[in-house]
Amino acid sequence: MTAYLNDPEIWQESWDRQQEAFMPDREHRFAAMLDAVAAVTEGKPPRLLDLAGGTGTISLRTLARFPGAQVTVLDQDPVLLTIAESTLRDRATIVDADLSDPSWRSKLPQDGFDAVLTATALHWLPAERVSTLYAEIREVLRPGGIFANADHMPEESLPTLSDKLRDHARVKREARYAAGASTSWPDWWARVAADGQLAAKAEERARIYPPKDDHSQEWLPPAVWHVDALRMAGFSEAGVIWRGGTDAAVAGLR
Ligand SMILES: C[S@@+](CC[C@H](N)C(=O)[O-])C[C@H]1O[C@@H](n2cnc3c(N)ncnc32)[C@H](O)[C@@H]1O
Repeated sequence: MTAYLNDPEIWQESWDRQQEAFMPDREHRFAAMLDAVAAVTEGKPPRLLDLAGGTGTISLRTLARFPGAQVTVLDQDPVLLTIAESTLRDRATIVDADLSDPSWRSKLPQDGFDAVLTATALHWLPAERVSTLYAEIREVLRPGGIFANADHMPEESLPTLSDKLRDHARVKREARYAAGASTSWPDWWARVAADGQLAAKAEERARIYPPKDDHSQEWLPPAVWHVDALRMAGFSEAGVIWRGGTDAAVAGLR
């Protein structure tokens, strides 16, 4: 059992601000995904898996929107899971598992989820693994259940505009850091490493994610690649449910 943090909500808030510097429309994509979940469950509180859920941001949004939802956060980052566990306490099940290992499903408290949501995470895995993972995710959904993945998924037919959009976003982000409006990714992790309660977890994390690994793939598949991969994985329908700049959310129905 992890010792709870004194101020998990403050760490959660600073994580959200740090992530919003990359994705100013982050809440829009979460709202679009939760709209799709509400449509599938006809408004009933879902049994939802927050896959590679980090600090549990999606779980917190789910619980706020659907009181009575049963949420499970799965991740392998000891720092982020400590924040999730401390913030969510008995409102969620926390699972420590590595999605690159197909046995991740055996660690779940249940299957038959109404929804599996994931955001800004699967690009950390090689594309071949993502294709296989989609089929594994389908298996933990109930028939009719929904999977949605929001991530960097540029529009294939707009390569020049996508480059310009990314450059524009980078300039804005750097201006936010320079003005102190947000904390950058390395600065956020430096604060974690300097925190009395999180420093030991940061050391554990460095063994899982070596510091030089920046988690960015050279090839970020476009949304159409994900839609095709979902169909190949056996989802009965698949498509784009949200787009913002070079990011999108794709969904599949079991
Ligand atoms: C940028 S964070 C996003 C977290 C959360 N979804 C959010 O939107 O705030 C990416 C997450 O993916 C998780 N992740 C990456 N590879 C993973 C793997 N192989 N197994 C489990 N989690 C993984 C990381 O630990 C991290 O929490």
